[in-house]
Amino acid sequence: MKNNNIHPTFDKILKREDKEKLLNQKSIVIWITGLSGSGKTTIAQDLEIELHKRGFLTKLLDGDNVRTGINNNLSFSEEDRKENIRRIAEVSKLFMKGGVILINCFISPTKDIRDQARDIVGKDDFFEIYVNTPLEVCEERDIKGLYAKARAGLIKNFTGIDSPYEAPVNPSIEVKTTESSIQESVQEILDKLLPRIEYKND
Ligand code: ADX
Repeated sequence: MKNNNIHPTFDKILKREDKEKLLNQKSIVIWITGLSGSGKTTIAQDLEIELHKRGFLTKLLDGDNVRTGINNNLSFSEEDRKENIRRIAEVSKLFMKGGVILINCFISPTKDIRDQARDIVGKDDFFEIYVNTPLEVCEERDIKGLYAKARAGLIKNFTGIDSPYEAPVNPSIEVKTTESSIQESVQEILDKLLPRIEYKND
């Protein structure tokens, strides 16, 4: 629904560049996709610590948290997952315009859903990380016990079981948690990410 009685005043707000200069960093949205239990949040947490140590201001958003707050009215139907990701992408964009570096961990299971997020954020500011952990491994680990419940039919529309996961075709980085340690993966991410977020006076 379009409301014609809204008068945004974006022109009076300090610009993103002003915030980036203040924070001495370039803002970006790091978007981590992968199956439930693939290791997205673990990688995100370690990455956040490494960035913090280097003086970067970040904000970590993840599915389990966001779905208890702003998105607590959404299910795991395809439509609601799309709405989940739409809101997160919009919120991320607001943070990003404030100069902050977002670290987002959401299953974001389909190309369509991730394309939506990329379109909202803007492709140049969207840094996609695919945490590629095979379903068998996620299921074997089953940290939250959700795969067992999904197999028992107690959870419907569970990603990888009775709801699809489409792997990204061309992510900025692909991490394989069965081949590399968390530290190695985070280092690999940092190597590629740091040149994008270091502030340059130009
Ligand atoms: S997304 O598909 O909409 O991107 P999101 O990342 O927000 O998902 O939430 C995923 C988390 O919700 C999982 O890590 C898991 O803990 C929990 N969860 C509960 N039900 C489901 C389900 N049906 N499918 C996937 N994850 C679920």
